[in-house]
Amino acid sequence: MTKFKSVGILTGGGDCPGLNAVIRSVSRSCFSYGFKVWGIKNGFGGLVEDQIEKLTDHEISGILHRGGTILGTTNRDNPFNYAVNINGITKYQDMSGQALKNLRKKEIEALIVIGGDGSLRIANEFSKLDLPVVAVPKTIDNDIPGTERTFGFDTAVSCACDALDRLHTTAESHHRVMVLEVMGRYAGWIALYSGLAGGADAILIPEIPYNIDSIINKIAKRKKSGKLFSIIVVAEGAFPMDGEQTVAMIIENSPEKIRLGGVGEKLTREIEKLTGIESRCTVLGHLQRGGSPTAFDRVLSTRYGVAAVNALAAGQTGCMVALQNNQIVRVPIETLAGKPSNVPLSFLEFGRSIGICFGD
Ligand code: F6P
Repeated sequence: MTKFKSVGILTGGGDCPGLNAVIRSVSRSCFSYGFKVWGIKNGFGGLVEDQIEKLTDHEISGILHRGGTILGTTNRDNPFNYAVNINGITKYQDMSGQALKNLRKKEIEALIVIGGDGSLRIANEFSKLDLPVVAVPKTIDNDIPGTERTFGFDTAVSCACDALDRLHTTAESHHRVMVLEVMGRYAGWIALYSGLAGGADAILIPEIPYNIDSIINKIAKRKKSGKLFSIIVVAEGAFPMDGEQTVAMIIENSPEKIRLGGVGEKLTREIEKLTGIESRCTVLGHLQRGGSPTAFDRVLSTRYGVAAVNALAAGQTGCMVALQNNQIVRVPIETLAGKPSNVPLSFLEFGRSIGICFGD
């Protein structure tokens, strides 16, 4: 058994359905071990700014089904390169020492970080400074290496699938091509799963640069067989064979650097021009991140929360809890330094067997 008696928990990066379910699960598990739980507000920024409050059964009641995070989050703050205002000028400084001091002040001995790749990299830096850390993989994008599933992904896919069901009926009525742009950053998981579940005719993902001719052929073939509408799902990170990813904006002083977005509209204009069929684009955006988690995500989040506290209790830190072959395992946190987890191309074969176009 471990020596930890007091544990901090923080949510970092973009929010994601299931965060509250993890917070609840971590807190309840800590209470059963007799550990105190501290909630760090607003991600790593709150750690530097000492926004740390005790969590009791009261704070974590009634949150299982709620989207977002009761702790607040941000995808900007990194304590190792932290924006500090000095005489009206913003300077970036290493504030990790201050963060550790704030933890010591409250006698917090270990940290559970619920985050995506950015937050988990920061967690790894703290782990190297001998802070016991256990990470929980969060993101709707499902792109964290070392785990088969991140919580939040299933909810995002359900949201996109629901949108596709709605787009189908209007596409059919108007004989239009409907393009749905979904999130996912540099991985095509959301596009692939929602496209398969929602009966898309073409699914375009960053893993396969697309050839516009193959999409046009697919639409033309459908038209010839009497199907006067088509449904296309495009991941925000997808790009044409002879082009680049569509960047919505450059973000200054952020680990993200760019915000993806806009490929759906570009593609829609091109399709309309080349086929003569009226076409529309829908960008699903942050709807995919909001709202209640699905039952699957609630269960996964709960399993992750329990597993994270069990890891701490077993004295196993510097790790991330992960899903492999439907078992929760612990993987070294350095695993995250690798490339994002992309859709394995072999996975697409069955989609091809039922005539889905992947743009190649
Ligand atoms: O990583 C989750 C995600 O929703 C991506 O799919 C998307 O590209 C990005 O975050 C959007 O981030 P923001 O919250 O900054 O708009």
